[in-house]
Amino acid sequence: MAFKRAAVLAVGILLPFANTLTIEGMLAAPRRSTANVNPSGKWALFTSTSYNWDTSKSSTTWQLLDVASGKTKEAPFGSEVSEVVWIGKTDTSILYINGTNDKTAGGVTLYTADVGAKTFSPTLVASLEAPFQGLKAVRTTSGDINFVVNSLARWDDGSAYNPELATAPSTSGAIYDANYIRHWDTYIASERYAVFSGKLASGKQGYSLNGELKNLLFGIKATVTRLESPVQPFGDQGDYDLSPDGQTVAFLTKAPELSKANHTASYIYLVPHDSSKAAVSVNGPGSSAPQHAKGASASPRWSPDGKKLAYLQQDGISYESDRFKLYVAAVQGINSKVSAVAADWDSSPSSLQWTPNGKNLWVASELHASTRLFVVPHNAKSSFVPKNFTGPDTNLAGFAILPNERALVSASASWTSRIFYTQSPGSSKKVLFTANEVDPELKGLKPDSVSNFWVENDDGDLIQTFVFYPTDFDPKKKYPLAFVIFNCIHKALTVLCHGGPQSTQADGWSTRWNLRLWAEQGFVVTTVQFTGSTSYGQEFTDKIQSNWGGTPYTDLIKVFEHLKHNVPYVDTDRAIAAGASYGCYMTNWIQGHDFGREFKALVCHNGKVNQVAAYATDELWFIEHDANGTVWNDRENYELWDPLAHAHNFQTPEFIVHSDGDYRVSISEGIQTFNILQRLGVPSRFLHFPDETHWVTNRHNSLLWHRGIFNWIRYWVGLDEELIQEGVVHQ
Ligand SMILES: *[C@@H]1O[C@H](CO)[C@@H](O)[C@H](O)[C@H]1NC(C)=O
Ligand SMILES: *[C@@H]1O[C@H](CO)[C@@H](O)[C@H](O)[C@H]1NC(C)=O
Ligand SMILES: *[C@@H]1O[C@H](CO)[C@@H](O)[C@H](O)[C@H]1NC(C)=O
Ligand SMILES: *[C@@H]1O[C@H](CO)[C@@H](O)[C@H](O)[C@H]1NC(C)=O
Repeated sequence: MAFKRAAVLAVGILLPFANTLTIEGMLAAPRRSTANVNPSGKWALFTSTSYNWDTSKSSTTWQLLDVASGKTKEAPFGSEVSEVVWIGKTDTSILYINGTNDKTAGGVTLYTADVGAKTFSPTLVASLEAPFQGLKAVRTTSGDINFVVNSLARWDDGSAYNPELATAPSTSGAIYDANYIRHWDTYIASERYAVFSGKLASGKQGYSLNGELKNLLFGIKATVTRLESPVQPFGDQGDYDLSPDGQTVAFLTKAPELSKANHTASYIYLVPHDSSKAAVSVNGPGSSAPQHAKGASASPRWSPDGKKLAYLQQDGISYESDRFKLYVAAVQGINSKVSAVAADWDSSPSSLQWTPNGKNLWVASELHASTRLFVVPHNAKSSFVPKNFTGPDTNLAGFAILPNERALVSASASWTSRIFYTQSPGSSKKVLFTANEVDPELKGLKPDSVSNFWVENDDGDLIQTFVFYPTDFDPKKKYPLAFVIFNCIHKALTVLCHGGPQSTQADGWSTRWNLRLWAEQGFVVTTVQFTGSTSYGQEFTDKIQSNWGGTPYTDLIKVFEHLKHNVPYVDTDRAIAAGASYGCYMTNWIQGHDFGREFKALVCHNGKVNQVAAYATDELWFIEHDANGTVWNDRENYELWDPLAHAHNFQTPEFIVHSDGDYRVSISEGIQTFNILQRLGVPSRFLHFPDETHWVTNRHNSLLWHRGIFNWIRYWVGLDEELIQEGVVHQ
């Protein structure tokens, strides 16, 4: 097959409808943060970032949401403000980080202000020498403000590290004596993130910084792995918390006595805010926590009275997709005693908050591929089964508990990039704001463009599949099928991107795999939550171990057959399959097997083709768990599900994307896949980004990604006449 040389297809030709979601529109439309609520629950702040294609610039504004009316207005400050904490003398007082510092290049400043005042008059209260972030603050009984922030810190003296002031070393070489040379998108350097504490003393002239910031991790003994908080690359201020009296800090760090490439373990520590005593661990070896709790910890949160600390921990010491269990520690000073809460609950929470009366925990956890809120009494016994009080129709991204014990939820769905609503157990949802009613780019998006169904698999498990329809969908017509095999996506709440396949991809908004936008290309789009997915019970998740190309593959075939025989508007003779990360691995597995012949074309983003080359990755615990062993002792486990072993069967046209900065799945995987397909004479295209990672995030790069992939899938099902030549390097 020869690619036709033709004029570049304009996006307008690809999308002939008015008022439908376009690639440019989706990428430029406002991206809104979660809502940050003030003490009385009257106001919430959030950021909104839009993109301008003409100037190639994004711009961020801060918005104030009136929680009672749902009305929004622009806050009196702009994008130089990077973070805001509601704190101070009035209900509308704030303390914020200004991302600039006139005195120190690369530093930041702290300001106080009152957004409720007639004129906005901020006061500079501290000049900080490094790019501190992750601000949390508490007003103490004396009226001072105790705060914590984080920054990279030097290992030798514990001081905050300012890359802009650092002198460049004379060599670019770096020597490693232990693995974890690089991680996700970063080569490991000597500096580590640390939590710093500081005090703003209250005086007649307002607040002023009292003394230096103190590195709360500095000096803690680490026999194998250096302490680091937040845990990189997905940790943030959710990895630490300041007690309500401002006197004690809880933070989490990877286990200091274990090698970090093959262990997921992390522990929570308590340390006085003034760093007068060395930190003491709440869980981990020698603590009062149950022996079986050995894995990753998450979400330490103080109770309103400061006497308890709730947190999450996995059992498995090297299994990143194990179930997170709930714990509450009774705290005295920096010592604590741990109890399990609702220990048998077969759900894996990602975040939690205490209710204002200190009785219950409101816990965010995934159920059937959408993150919901559950109520759990803080002392619930093992057999307690928590109930969700938010529904499946939106996917929760964050929440706050208002003083009237309603949750203010920030969520998304395939039809809205952001929805804010309030809800409490037993009451109905009150929508305050939804982006699809405001943003012109999202105009016409409605909840009825998504549905789901269940099919029983060979193990007797029910497999859920989500379906996305294009605008003006007509069930009497026939649509080509886009069979999207999901990947590792940012988990709604904690932005944890676990390796996939242990994840879900369902009814949420994504700027990278926006399935509603895929449908808009003229397809009915499905995503199957195959065996190994989270949110259907831990046993179902665990079943993918040593089974990568096994049950997940037969689940996909089951659903495909179901669509073929039962869904008249889906034309399975014109189907394509696409996936990223594990989804790309599965696409390559399908390519090497009979199921591959059901598809007109395939799309593979940053995934593996060569399982035996697994040790080029960063987190060894992941592959050693999923393949149940090492490649030298248990090589057959790796070979069993190796797409490369079936390369002689590759024959379906495939589009491959891979980027140099992906240290999770090395670039060599994408290049191998492409070289094999070319060598076999299978129509194939390779899209390479030198400056992207496991994800493509730059908007112009993303535009090329979308145009290239959408044209590829449309061409092979007969919707486009030609393959575009935009960006093609001809040899
Ligand atoms: C941020 O800091 C700069 C100086 O570094 C100052 O000019 C600007 O007014 C500040 N903005 C706000 C909103 O504090
Ligand atoms: C983890 O790796 C270290 C070497 O980095 C090794 O000594 C240790 O035995 C490994 N532990 C496990 C549980 O695989
Ligand atoms: C809880 O989840 C179930 C299952 O998805 C759903 O049917 C129910 O409506 C949810 N409960 C509430 C109160 O939204
Ligand atoms: C392999 O599986 C066995 C049985 O489930 C388990 O006991 C063992 O810990 C596993 N090994 C690894 C490296 O996951």
